[in-house]
Amino acid sequence: MLALILKGMTAELTLPSFAKINLHLQVVGRRADGFHDLCTVFQTISLHDTLTISHLESEDIVMTCGDNRIPAGEQNLVVRAAMALRQECKVVCGAEIHLDKVIPAPGGLGGGSSNAAVALLGLNKVWNLNLCVEELHPLASRLGSDVPFFLYGGTALGMGRGEVVEPIPEFTAESMLVVTPDVAVATRDAFKRLNAAVLTKQESKRKLQICRFDLESADFNYTAFKNDFETTVFATYPEVDRVKNTLLDLGARQALLSGSGGSVFAVFEKEETRQAAMKALGNEANWRKFAVATISRDEYREALKEVF
Ligand code: C5P
Repeated sequence: MLALILKGMTAELTLPSFAKINLHLQVVGRRADGFHDLCTVFQTISLHDTLTISHLESEDIVMTCGDNRIPAGEQNLVVRAAMALRQECKVVCGAEIHLDKVIPAPGGLGGGSSNAAVALLGLNKVWNLNLCVEELHPLASRLGSDVPFFLYGGTALGMGRGEVVEPIPEFTAESMLVVTPDVAVATRDAFKRLNAAVLTKQESKRKLQICRFDLESADFNYTAFKNDFETTVFATYPEVDRVKNTLLDLGARQALLSGSGGSVFAVFEKEETRQAAMKALGNEANWRKFAVATISRDEYREALKEVF
């Protein structure tokens, strides 16, 4: 539920912080700075955390989280987002931010990145900074490669490190499952394991152009999902492979690793099949399961309308 208390200024905001999946993830090549150039398709889904943000009279940035596995200090991207925004705008403001965590972390679902982007949007409002999304974008990009996407939501291409975001025609799916087994895949290590070739800017640009052309016009109802991390992640964590195969065996039209994993998402043709699959997964005590649907750009903006 979204709640907004107005006392002359925005005193408290309660905002959903949605997860993402990647309908396509292609690692184009390794860059000289150690990062990788990507061509990916981000998609927001209904699974979400909740951030409650309030203005503090003091200069403190106080973060709390019910889940003690989530760091609540400066290691948390939410706190880093608050500090970076303050520094950027040269203001001395305080805030209390409570994170109600549901999105598995780590899980390849962008939970931390989403939290950081929503913190930027929320604090921009609570502190009356009036920055537009385009002004928040560079700040988001410095916080993490996936953070800028969450300033937009819906279906979007991610290029460069992932921080170059271009909205594309929406993919819609109502009957999906996201399953996260009890494995922690470190993104940095997953990239290293790919052992991608270092590409020159020219080579990388050419590969990206081809990929972009294909994806801009793709209809994901008829396009096979693809994730370059699958081979190495499945080899390192066979349990993740088992999740994907189980979802396909249970009738999913498609199933794919999300990001660098270990979550796997599946799209079902019929709601009955999804429900039966969810029931069958009840035996897997160590897997977290979520029934989800896609969230379009309009739905995203509507759910976060207080800050847009
Ligand atoms: O940008 P972010 O902090 O999310 O990235 C985490 C790590 O993943 C980076 O430190 C880097 O090792 C790796 N990464 C990469 N190429 C990208 C994105 C992330 O190599 N495009």
